Order: sequence, then structure tokens, then C-alpha cells
Amino acid sequence: MRVVVLASGRGSNLEALIKAERRGELPIRIVGVVSDKRHARALDLARENDIPAIHLGARGFADRQSYDLALFGRIADLQPDMIVLAGFMRILDPVAFAPWLGRIINIHPSLLPLYPGLHTHRRALEAGDRKHGASVHFVTAELDGGPVIAQSVIDILGGDTEDTLASRLLEREHRLLVACVGLLASGRLAWQAGSVLLDGVVLTSPLRFEDLPPTHDKLA
Ligand code: GRF
Repeated sequence: MRVVVLASGRGSNLEALIKAERRGELPIRIVGVVSDKRHARALDLARENDIPAIHLGARGFADRQSYDLALFGRIADLQPDMIVLAGFMRILDPVAFAPWLGRIINIHPSLLPLYPGLHTHRRALEAGDRKHGASVHFVTAELDGGPVIAQSVIDILGGDTEDTLASRLLEREHRLLVACVGLLASGRLAWQAGSVLLDGVVLTSPLRFEDLPPTHDKLA
């Protein structure tokens, strides 16, 4: 499965995918990394790993839709089977990504439908939540609102700050994303008309990361 990753920043989720691919744990090939930010570390990571790294800045485009149409044009050139948003910090125009519906996933640091958008760790702390987590979902026109594939849940501890919560969750995000990409790439997981299918059966609630098969076993 040919995968294109979109990332705006640090790229630690991208790095987790690259490492899993290189260890032979994922039946994918990352055929390109695309960023709206010229200096995104994600682009450096791609170059260091001999993956085509493409920067396309939004400056000079008349509006979001024209930028997004150009963006998906560049992505289409890479002929992906799947697009992974891993810290891509732009809202996508529905018209531009419509041809890719069901083939784009996103990782979001909250237990969706809680806290779409930004500052998820802060919002979970301010709400006094006892649990926090990350979600991988199919991308639809609604911001962070598409059908959720799987979630990983962590406890919020007494002394937690935004930073401690973010870093404890990030490690889970990496494993969650790798596991979801593995399920998609092996054909076990699919999109069907707005629903998530696992082994041909519609999911009625998100998979729990803890219940996902280890990538190794799945490929054995
Ligand atoms: C992650 O927390 C991801 O869930 C969110 O943006 C962050 C990206 O981190 N969408 P990184 O660039 O993958 O390190």
C-alpha cells in the first residue's frame, strides 16, 4: 500500500510509521511526505530516510480551496492508496479532498467526539476529566468529526500538566497510528459509506487500542 503522509511540524508520528515500515512491521511504502511548512522537521525526517519531501506553502493562493486543490494535485502525482494526516495543522476543503474520501485518516489527541480542534490536553484538564486519549479517524468535511476507527485511553494523574499529558499520550499515539495503518494496509479495516468496517462487519464503537492485534502477529 502506497502511503503519503501530511505533516506540519515535528513529525514524531511520521517517524513512528517510518520505523515500523523499515522494521518490516507494516506492509506499506511511504511514497512521499507533504508539508505546508517549509521548515517542518517532518520534511527533514523524510529526506533523511530517502522519502520524497514536498513543501507547498499556502502563500500566493487566492483561497483555501485553490491551495487544497493544488495540494491534492501534488499528492495525486505520488499515486497513494492512502493518505495519513499526522499533525497536519490545516483544515481541508471538502471539495478538494472529496475524491479521496475513505482513503484519508487523521490522528487527533483526544477521545473524540470530545475536544475537536486545538488545545485538547488543556481542555481535558480544565474539564476535570479522569481519562484522556487519542483517536484515529477517517477524515470527512467535519473538523475532527469523521468516523472513529480506534482510540487509546490514558488516565489523567493528579499532578498532570498539559506537557506531561501530551508527552505520555504521544507515545500511545505512535502505537495507535501504526496499528491502524497496519489494519488498513492488510485490508482488514475499510471505509464503507461513512462507516468503519473491520473484517467486513460495521463497527458500532471505536476499537480500543488495547484490543488491537500487535502488528507482528497480524502479519505472521
Ligand atoms: C499529535 O499530537 C497529533 O495527534 C496531532 O498533532 C500532533 C503531531 O505531532 N494531530 P507530531 O508532529 O507527529 O510529532
